Amino acid sequence: MTTNRIYNFNAGPAALPLSVLEEIQASFLDFKGSGMSITEVSHRSKWFDDVINDAVERLKRVLGLDDKFHVLFLQGGASMQFCMIPMNFLAGGGSADYVNTGTWSTKAIKEAEIQGKSVQVVASSEDKNFSYIPKDIAFNTEAVYAHITSNNTIKGTQWAEFPDTGGVPLIADMSSDILSRPFDADRFGLFYAGAQKNMGPAGVCVVAVRDDFLKMVPDNLPTMLKYTTFAGKNSMFNTPPCFAVYTVQLVLKWLEESIGGLDKMAEINRKKAGMLYKTIDESGFFSGTAAPDSRSVMNVTFRLPSEDLEKAFVQEALENKMGGLKGHRSVGGCRASIYNPTPVEAVETLCDFMKDFERRNG
Ligand SMILES: Cc1ncc(COP(=O)(O)O)c(C=O)c1O
Repeated sequence: MTTNRIYNFNAGPAALPLSVLEEIQASFLDFKGSGMSITEVSHRSKWFDDVINDAVERLKRVLGLDDKFHVLFLQGGASMQFCMIPMNFLAGGGSADYVNTGTWSTKAIKEAEIQGKSVQVVASSEDKNFSYIPKDIAFNTEAVYAHITSNNTIKGTQWAEFPDTGGVPLIADMSSDILSRPFDADRFGLFYAGAQKNMGPAGVCVVAVRDDFLKMVPDNLPTMLKYTTFAGKNSMFNTPPCFAVYTVQLVLKWLEESIGGLDKMAEINRKKAGMLYKTIDESGFFSGTAAPDSRSVMNVTFRLPSEDLEKAFVQEALENKMGGLKGHRSVGGCRASIYNPTPVEAVETLCDFMKDFERRNG
């Protein structure tokens, strides 16, 4: 293993489990005795069939999804889902509820609106710079779906519990917290996640969609923008992003076999986030930007007393082999993204560094 690796706190693309990277490296030139790299085998081969089928089965097993869910591997990122969801599910009229909790929700709403769909923004936390998750939301009982962003990567907030929609199926953008904790999938018509945070490399978006939602998809949409196109072909209507799917498969295997599943993963994630928030709360120097009851377990956002200190903090952290701590360019400040693969020791090292930085600069 190269000794030059850093503790990676990037928001996405983000850290992957070292054992997964090593497995990719070890089998890169000769995948399963094929004499080819996984990047060279045909997606119509038995080798790739085994990869994608295993990835689907593992995802279903880990998340406890029954057979009414179809797992799809799509391209176009989570951003493409902002467009496909209203296009596929509001084609027959009807309206959808959206909760606006930040940049990504705002984009999802915009993509529905520019198609002329009927969208009700039933709650928003924009009044306080998206620093909290709205409570006691009155959803429209006739809505086709209610869209939320389960974790707000930029603002560092997360739904601790999913809202009561009065029976309206939820659709969630889970890009930055899928596989970080167990949840009751039966309340969802669809959920989706760009893989590049908690599941793998950039290039694939994982979608789980329920049978009854697929039934709403009309025939007269562009082929590549219809969920039914991919559901009917095991995500292989056209060439799928083979390497990304393969990496997702290995990450799922790691989650099941090395971590021991979602309950275990959630416990580790709570521990990591708890350490960081404790460091922030006990300091008179760092301040968290998210409301305490809405804090994300995945993206910990914080400020220092000045922008100059923030710059110095990010720079010094990097010199000490901790990368990716700069906040999103739209909000500034600092952010530690601590997705599933980020080891506890990375967070311990960061907390020690924060305390030391405060001692020297506070
Ligand atoms: C919550 C969330 N949704 C959507 C996106 C956009 O994902 P993509 O770049 O895969 O389109 C991101 C990217 O950071 C995100 O954090």
